[in-house]
Amino acid sequence: MRGGIVPGLVEVTRDRAWETLTRYTQSESLLRHALAVEASVRAYARRFGEDEELWGCVALLHDFDYEIHPTLDQHPQDGAPILREEGYPEVVIRAVLSHAEHLELPRETLLERTLFACDELSGFVHACGLVRPTGLDGLEPKSVRKKLKQPSFAAGVHRDEVYAGAELIALELDEHIANVIAALQPIAPELGLRTAADAA
Ligand SMILES: [Fe+2]
Ligand SMILES: [Fe+2]
Repeated sequence: MRGGIVPGLVEVTRDRAWETLTRYTQSESLLRHALAVEASVRAYARRFGEDEELWGCVALLHDFDYEIHPTLDQHPQDGAPILREEGYPEVVIRAVLSHAEHLELPRETLLERTLFACDELSGFVHACGLVRPTGLDGLEPKSVRKKLKQPSFAAGVHRDEVYAGAELIALELDEHIANVIAALQPIAPELGLRTAADAA
């Protein structure tokens, strides 16, 4: 066994996860969603002293099959055999499956809880940034919270999952929002967001 890799399993690297993701996904908005969740989950991996590369790859891959499986009777469960076929280890596959509410898998690991906590909120914070001339710069948790209470804003984001996610990683909602804002700021251009520098 070379490099600690179990035979038949691939080494989980960002390059490989990105290659898998982009082989199944063309949509810019889906790729941006993957990048946003990756940035948030990576930030938490650093904070919790966990394996940032592994956590980031799981986040990149969590919706990799959404474009080919756009309904809940397929996503993400029909993506799992594809990942298995490609040689991803069960820790990745199990975490990817756990993000889906309808599969009702218990979220057992900190990675699984963090992925769930970051999925909807990363999308929501991203949406908040898109409607501001300075993007995420100067965005306060309080105004994100206010927008969460407007059902028509980013209506596809499940508010109950945002609240449940913060609880699942035992953070106050405002702190969780602030962490996600800070995680997305460095990749603002990749997310199509303006910055304070653009507005100046
Ligand atoms: Fe999903
Ligand atoms: Fe997602």
